[in-house]
Amino acid sequence: MVSRVIPVDVFDLVIFGGTGDLARRKVLPGLYRRFLAGQMPEGARIIGAARADLDDQGFRDMARAAIGEFAGAAKQDAEAIGQFLDHLHYVAIDATGEGGWDRLAAIVRKDVVQAFYFSVAPSLFGELAERLHHHGIATAQSRIVVEKPFGHDLGTAQALNATLAAHFSEGQIYRIDHYLGKETVQNLMAVRFANMLFEPLWNAQYIDHVQITVAETVGVGGRGAYYDRSGAMRDMMQNHLMQLLCLIAMEPPYKFDPDAVRDEKLKVIRALDPVGPEDIVRGQYRGGAKKDGLGEPSYVEDAANPASLTESYVALKVMVANWRWKGTPFYLRTGKKLRGRTSEIAIVFREPPHSIFGDEEGWRENVLAIRLQPNEGMNLTVMIKEPGPGGMRLTEVPLDMSFADALGEDGADIPDAYERLIMDVIRGNQTLFMRGDEVEAAWAWTDPIIAGWEERGDRPRGYDPGSSGPEDALMLLHRDGRRWREIRE
Ligand code: BG6
Repeated sequence: MVSRVIPVDVFDLVIFGGTGDLARRKVLPGLYRRFLAGQMPEGARIIGAARADLDDQGFRDMARAAIGEFAGAAKQDAEAIGQFLDHLHYVAIDATGEGGWDRLAAIVRKDVVQAFYFSVAPSLFGELAERLHHHGIATAQSRIVVEKPFGHDLGTAQALNATLAAHFSEGQIYRIDHYLGKETVQNLMAVRFANMLFEPLWNAQYIDHVQITVAETVGVGGRGAYYDRSGAMRDMMQNHLMQLLCLIAMEPPYKFDPDAVRDEKLKVIRALDPVGPEDIVRGQYRGGAKKDGLGEPSYVEDAANPASLTESYVALKVMVANWRWKGTPFYLRTGKKLRGRTSEIAIVFREPPHSIFGDEEGWRENVLAIRLQPNEGMNLTVMIKEPGPGGMRLTEVPLDMSFADALGEDGADIPDAYERLIMDVIRGNQTLFMRGDEVEAAWAWTDPIIAGWEERGDRPRGYDPGSSGPEDALMLLHRDGRRWREIRE
């Protein structure tokens, strides 16, 4: 199967923070992969803009190294890299001063698609927006791409929305949540709305509960200063897990159209019940012994803040207060330094109303598990008869599908989230980007939870690196007669 490449118009993409970590790890390697796939039109330009004193060649050298390191071993093709680098240019710029803006104004073309990627500290977002206007660079058609974190709470998100709105219309603003660019996340919509099989059962009458897990093995070492001000609630729950919840819980949009989809997601966020302290567990990883005998740093060491009360893990139970989901809890958890890097959504169905077999022992609920990473795919467990003459005994079997197996080369070569999202910006498709009101609604739900912790001086529970998180998180489900799915190593 060969994937279709949707052509895009000629563009100038300016990456503010073009020499930064995100540009090196994701944006430039992602663009190179799109080039390899044949999606980069002739004449397209990628213009790095950053403080560093580089010229075009210096930026190209940096990009070459980034591609070598982050574009994947199978994608290294010296000739293609050389051709790709010809698309790259550089402007040294001072985001908070006057330096470089006139040069940028002279370079950026007004007769092609213009996109400005704000891959810089959030405190600079407003300033960049203003300067783009002040120097007459942006037009009414320009697009701006804004990275997370989008605000620190509702107030700061509103202020940022207002600053951006002073210069750009909502249709020009692309707020990134890279989880929406993950292939499997988009597949949630395909599974739900392109199959007759699931949607009739997709409600509280048939679904007992939903579990969303985003587990990571990495700690916060290296970015402790940022993370210590955020914690798992702001860094992951308010955005990535919230978006996953929306895609699972939303009503069918009337059309696969940016506002139709985002309207439905917004309704879900607004329908979320507040979460009380009894329904949420925070954790912070302890230090640990590594197999090689070297100690692994604890969270407070990584954050260089011995008194830190910031959570590196959070698990919660939330109800979506509407007709469809009345009585079906959503359990969400995410954390660092856990035993495996697993992200999955599990839809756990209810028991049949009556068992005709009387074999309760072998019975298990049907579970539709959607694996976001690694090994993207879906697994539906069904009950069948245990083979053999031993009577009607039940056993559970998986209907397992990995994209890699089912789709051959295409399934194994899933584009990175950033590749798709950047191309969506160029194509002018906002479906997979967050609208301002969505972000604000997510903060409005998150803020009281965090404020409650601060008021109570809540201390996160310790958990060991390589574990499944704090013991108390188990209780969230145990007391409801349920259990978390295993986090695989
Ligand atoms: C980022 C968070 O948004 O997502 C990080 O800031 C986290 O803390 C990362 O590690 C996880 O993304 P992924 O794509 O590796 O699951």
